[in-house]
Amino acid sequence: MNLEEILHNVSEPKPKIPRSIVMIGSGGIVHDAHLPAYAKAGFQVAALVDVNRERAETLAKKFNVELGTDSIVEAIRFAPANAVFDVAVPAKAIPSILPQLPNGSAVLIQKPMGDTLAEAIEIQRICRAKGLVAAVNFQLRFAPNMLLARALTASGVLGELHDMEVSLSVHMPWELWSFLSAAPRLEITYHSIHYIDLVRSWFGNPNSVYAKTVRSPRTPNLASTKSVIVFDYGDDKRVFIDTNHSHDFSPQKQRSFVQWEGMNGAMRAQMGVNLNYPIGEPDNFEYALRDGEGWKQAPVTGNWFPDAFMGSMGSLQAYVQGDAKTLPTSIEDAIDTMRTVEAAYLSSARGGVTLPVE
Ligand SMILES: NC(=O)c1ccc[n+]([C@@H]2O[C@H](COP(=O)([O-])OP(=O)(O)OC[C@H]3O[C@@H](n4cnc5c(N)ncnc54)[C@H](O)[C@@H]3O)[C@@H](O)[C@H]2O)c1
Repeated sequence: MNLEEILHNVSEPKPKIPRSIVMIGSGGIVHDAHLPAYAKAGFQVAALVDVNRERAETLAKKFNVELGTDSIVEAIRFAPANAVFDVAVPAKAIPSILPQLPNGSAVLIQKPMGDTLAEAIEIQRICRAKGLVAAVNFQLRFAPNMLLARALTASGVLGELHDMEVSLSVHMPWELWSFLSAAPRLEITYHSIHYIDLVRSWFGNPNSVYAKTVRSPRTPNLASTKSVIVFDYGDDKRVFIDTNHSHDFSPQKQRSFVQWEGMNGAMRAQMGVNLNYPIGEPDNFEYALRDGEGWKQAPVTGNWFPDAFMGSMGSLQAYVQGDAKTLPTSIEDAIDTMRTVEAAYLSSARGGVTLPVE
């Protein structure tokens, strides 16, 4: 296959025969991303559950799901025995839901995997004790432009990658999420966690992390919303995340992209969802090789939201069905993303190296 063919043949992981889904939580992200993605992927949702029964029923009606209920027991009874569970509730509610699922079930858990590393370890403990085949919904890895980046790299044309940066300068209206107003940890736990997981998916666990995360004087009552996180992968790789979520001077000067450099080429993937939020821009994918032809655009088949959600659910289903050998965002991998988040907060709290005496 030539490069054009390679880039036209990229698709997200999916099972040969999809299973039904029991969705637990019927809030904003389920409405905006999970259900539209599953409709697009042809995944059938058997039941929607929410502690707020009316919310589950309303959403079920809107997306033609047969059952909307406030009872996990009722949903389990109603759904096929091999249904996959999809939990999308605030992190604090996850440990009370998992014990209610049948032992050995397949379950996708929304990020973050708990609000702290201690909560992540508790979630891991419950999953292990119940023999759950569990993955965390770190779906950015499966965004269509990120899959293009992966395919181009796998083709070998870029040579060895030695540089990766995630760069955001955007305005995020945090007031849209009331639960964040009291969150002791904000930006890294809720946003950069995606970028940390993405970086780990390329380079594995870093040797160490240096970070500084700060509050914005524009939102003094919120926890930190701007961060720089540097990953130590040795002396020949530069890898960092740089996020400013309070740059509100004009949408034209906002930026939100991941950029990689290899010995023979570079690529850049725009994450349009963050731009001019909540209006957004489309995702895109550009690359340049040492062929004198400059930067080229490759066609992108969709956006992070909702398309990447097809891949996170698809990869879990492909794994439990035996169609895939690995589960990329398994609970055992996701815990390392949570450890990296923890390391970033610890580094920020500890501070850097003070100036040596003269
Ligand atoms: N992957 C992503 O990119 C992404 C994006 C947005 C939100 N999220 C995460 O998804 C989760 C949900 O976010 P949201 O925006 O939908 O929030 P939301 O507040 O709109 O919805 C949460 C829903 O969960 C329900 N709920 C709470 N406890 C429950 C329980 N014990 N059993 C059943 N239902 C319960 C609530 O009634 C509510 O309807 C959060 O953890 C959030 O961090 C992830």
